[in-house]
Amino acid sequence: MTFFLEPVTPESENWQLPPTMADTAPPIDTAYVFIFWFSVFFFVAITLSSLYFIWKYKRVKGVKSEPTGHFNKLEIFWTVTPTIFIVGLFHVGFTGYIKNATAAEGATEIRIRAKKWTWEAEYPGGQRLPLKYDPAIPSGLHLEKGKPYKMIISSEDVLHSFFIPEFRMKRDAVPGQYSFISFTPTVAGMAHVFCAEYCGTDHSAMLGTVFVEEPAEHKKFLDDLDKPPPGLTPEQWGAKLFIANGCPTCHGPDGTGQINGAKSPGPRLAGLYMKAGGEMMSTGTAVTPDENYIRESILRPNAKTVMGYTTVTMPPFVFKDPQVDALIAYVKSLK
Ligand code: CUA
Repeated sequence: MTFFLEPVTPESENWQLPPTMADTAPPIDTAYVFIFWFSVFFFVAITLSSLYFIWKYKRVKGVKSEPTGHFNKLEIFWTVTPTIFIVGLFHVGFTGYIKNATAAEGATEIRIRAKKWTWEAEYPGGQRLPLKYDPAIPSGLHLEKGKPYKMIISSEDVLHSFFIPEFRMKRDAVPGQYSFISFTPTVAGMAHVFCAEYCGTDHSAMLGTVFVEEPAEHKKFLDDLDKPPPGLTPEQWGAKLFIANGCPTCHGPDGTGQINGAKSPGPRLAGLYMKAGGEMMSTGTAVTPDENYIRESILRPNAKTVMGYTTVTMPPFVFKDPQVDALIAYVKSLK
């Protein structure tokens, strides 16, 4: 029963349905189109034959009707045939449901949170964006074309339903539990997010925009996500990153090199930048603690070790360039 599961091409225009923009859409469309034309065929066939029989067997003066009896073979035929059809339809629907609930290997996970009356996406880097598009701020659900995704959907208050018509994907957001949908966007462009479950006054305004982007465009979006949060200077952002990444545990609060009055496991950072005489390394040579030194110490901490700090090894950190710049700005500000 897979003959009508063959995906129709994403480019195909359908006069009844929105564009198809994800791998989940073509099988659903094919099943839908099959059911639609199947129904049209039988609607026309049954109506026409009814009209024909009404005409053919109309009452005629002098002709007496002869009722037909019971015809078992016919009864069985029109009971069994639709049953097989409905079992086949169930199979198509159920396998599709299972497929869309199962994430592909290596799928990128994005959390979708619903609350009265907004959608929010949390990206793998922890950044949260509202899904309702606002050109003034980073917003919308940005996805990369051709990459598998898994949405982890939850609700903070009442029942909502996350619906992207172009992906033919809809899943309830239920308070107190997670629900999932998986798909791979296949066509670049814009799609819609609707709330498909009545959730109160502004249910109809609970909208969002999906941007399916080419890989280069999407990479730019992700890079921009790591730019300073609006309203923060690089130095203020660096201070937040410093704390968020646990740096004070080894370098002391504000990089003082002191924890509770004792020497911290990591060297002092306050006053480090361009320190007179340089920073003495364990090799016995002094280096100039400039931007390059700080950058190297963050990304490849064991390239150079400060004299007297050889017992504890600093783990390497993964940061994007703007984050490294922010951390350097912060370290430079420490006196
Ligand atoms: Cu949320 Cu309707």
